[in-house]
Amino acid sequence: MIPKTGGDPPALRKNHAARKVRAAYSTIAVLASFLAMSPVAQGADPAEGRKLAAQCKTCHGLDGIAKIPVAPNLAGESQIYIEKQLKAFRSGKREHEMMSLVAKNLTNQQISDLAAWYQSIEIIAKMPE
Ligand code: HEC
Repeated sequence: MIPKTGGDPPALRKNHAARKVRAAYSTIAVLASFLAMSPVAQGADPAEGRKLAAQCKTCHGLDGIAKIPVAPNLAGESQIYIEKQLKAFRSGKREHEMMSLVAKNLTNQQISDLAAWYQSIEIIAKMPE
């Protein structure tokens, strides 16, 4: 008679462990590729960004609080998000009559600097009573 062992045969258990390890590795790989994709350039300079933001202030405000109702506030927005959107406008992946023109000639460094400037602005949110 074959003794009942309870649980999976050893071979299957090993497989299961291998699957777990593989899953962990693929999680790490996904995280790593996110980090690699995050377009934060080295040496983003908010002071340079502040100067460049002169081109943006009629619509977004130098302080990142929008001056026209169709433009979004940029104050305190994350560097990663701002960079991603500016690059999307530049590449044509995201289109907008004003922003596509604005972003067309920005370099990666300028985009990083601008994003660093707007991210550096502290905002305080106040919920309605
Ligand atoms: C003539 C007005 C105008 C100027 C100048 C302008 N923007 Fe914009 N920007 C807009 C409008 C309008 C939108 C909203 C686009 C849409 O509706 O998709 C926008 C959207 C954006 C967004 C996306 C924000 C989001 O929440 O998705 C970013 C980032 C941005 N602008 C950055 C800049 C920067 C940096 C500059 C200066 C280099 C600049 N803009 C200059 C009008 C302007």
